[in-house]
Amino acid sequence: MIVREMTKEDLEEVVNIESSLYKDKWNKEAYLRDLENEIAYNYVLEHEGVILGYYGFWLMFDNIDITKVSIRKELQGKGLSKILMEDMFNRISNSDINTITLEVRVSNKVAIALYEKYGFKKISVREKYYENVEDAYVMQKEVN
Ligand SMILES: CC(C)(COP(=O)(O)OP(=O)(O)OC[C@H]1O[C@@H](n2cnc3c(N)ncnc32)[C@H](O)[C@@H]1OP(=O)(O)O)[C@@H](O)C(=O)NCCC(=O)NCCS
Repeated sequence: MIVREMTKEDLEEVVNIESSLYKDKWNKEAYLRDLENEIAYNYVLEHEGVILGYYGFWLMFDNIDITKVSIRKELQGKGLSKILMEDMFNRISNSDINTITLEVRVSNKVAIALYEKYGFKKISVREKYYENVEDAYVMQKEVN
């Protein structure tokens, strides 16, 4: 298994996975824009040519904001997210990053548990952040 930078060639597979996981899914155009955005970083977890998951973040000053952490549905619950989270922590370990933030649906208990396991704390609520209906928790972790 390797973690490597996401490329345009990955997008068909990524968007397929994405559409099975998210209500507010990004389509191919959204990912193409993100890959061209100089503050955006996206990585895939690959095994024998198959993408098992992916994650991304935006780098803004001394903060990174996680955009996605995703594991293929049929492979969830097997500890694979650890590889993505540790890859992210390693990439920023010798940087000037002070905080990691993210938004997560208040109903997404699995993701909230995952982030809390890595020391993220709920710091605020963004009301009706998703589809103008569901609230988001803003979660943050201090690093380095
Ligand atoms: C969130 C997600 C990335 C977790 O990946 P995963 O590989 O299935 O998770 P893991 O098996 O590595 O478990 C990691 C932690 O997540 C939490 N978790 C995983 N499955 C859980 C479940 N069914 N119930 C509660 N917590 C759960 C636990 O804290 C777990 O740690 P533990 O095993 O030490 O208790 C994955 O479920 C996913 O892709 N979800 C859909 C996309 C999404 O919502 N992403 C997050 C928002 S950006």
